[in-house]
Amino acid sequence: MASSLYFPSIISVWTLIITSTIEFGHAFQPIHNKVSLLNRILSTQALTSSTQLCAKKNLKTFQRYLEIECWRHTELRELEPVLKSVAESCKQISRIVQRAQTDDLYGVAVDADGRPLDDNVQGEVQQQLDVLCNTYMLRAFCGGGSSCIHSVASEEEDEPRCCSDVMTDAAFAVGDYIAVFDPIDGSKNIDASLPVGSIFGIYKKQPGSDVGDLTFLQDGRSLVAAGYCLFSASTVLVLTLGSGVDGFTLDPDSGRFLHTLKDIRIPRKGSIFSFNEANYRGFGEPVQRYLKLLKEGTSKMGMQMTARYIGALVADVHNILINGGIYGYPSTRSNPNGKLRLLYECAPMAMILEQAGGAASTGYGRILDVKPTEIHARTPVFLGSVENVFELDEFFQYYDENDGKK
Ligand code: F6P
Repeated sequence: MASSLYFPSIISVWTLIITSTIEFGHAFQPIHNKVSLLNRILSTQALTSSTQLCAKKNLKTFQRYLEIECWRHTELRELEPVLKSVAESCKQISRIVQRAQTDDLYGVAVDADGRPLDDNVQGEVQQQLDVLCNTYMLRAFCGGGSSCIHSVASEEEDEPRCCSDVMTDAAFAVGDYIAVFDPIDGSKNIDASLPVGSIFGIYKKQPGSDVGDLTFLQDGRSLVAAGYCLFSASTVLVLTLGSGVDGFTLDPDSGRFLHTLKDIRIPRKGSIFSFNEANYRGFGEPVQRYLKLLKEGTSKMGMQMTARYIGALVADVHNILINGGIYGYPSTRSNPNGKLRLLYECAPMAMILEQAGGAASTGYGRILDVKPTEIHARTPVFLGSVENVFELDEFFQYYDENDGKK
């Protein structure tokens, strides 16, 4: 036992010593000098730069990745500048999130006369952070180089907006695409330094039609790109352009997103279930029975399940994407359509999950098949590994939402 505990730490101390020795050009030291060398390194200027102690991996930048992908898929070339500018806005939001507690960024957003802004269409009071992050995203999509985005719909805006309105210049109403986004999802987590995220999706504008609310009411199968940025222990940008999913971690030293997660594939099944179980009594029969099964250990997954719930969609779904399992925000008796928004939360996440080999369901069918009835429409959602999601879907086929068997 003791030796297995010591083994990794000895290895890592040796790795550190050897790396440091190489990094600082010291000649190889005799064994009795190793610990004093380590102490010297730790106590001197060596710690002033993290790059000196850890060798950088040779990873492709997000810029380079996009150049290659957009060269391979000519139909995506127009999107390259806007995606680069969205990545820049993610860096800005990452900084804002990190500075929220030290800078005066909390509190209700006010207008030029110091009056609180009106509640948004969801009935929520807009916070300064929401407004700031929304502004970054609006500028990234509308002012992002190629002017390929015609209009945008944001969680923070009551109505879709034309880019000519956002940029106050008619020249910006020319693009062939529209974008949807939630600039800062799970923002209540920020007070407690917990993870939050941004989500976005890009659709083709319907040819020939004027852009209005109806343009945005497309099902998720029409998405050409979707992504999210997780602001957590590290800042990770996850993107699909319709042929797989890739992830990029923000390198704090160079300020660049680096290609750390190549061709992400979600495990076929996994042990994590991520639901807000405080709502259990309000869940319908299928979800209640399913959760009971997971906890009794009689799921077809044949593994010991474990519960994880962070309360920010991006963080919870990222965990499922990497480790496998199921995320759910079901309908409840008081919220029959669930809580999460179809257009700028569920559909982009569904595209990412499916592109990574997973599944995204309402319980009755694919999320990507659902056409929104209005831009802020909500839907129940289950996202995750195919085997986990399909097992839950079977409960919806068998049990009625409201009471016993069908
Ligand atoms: O959409 C808003 C959101 O904050 C999601 O990010 C998150 O998954 C969910 O609400 C959490 O809701 P609740 O606090 O009801 O579990």
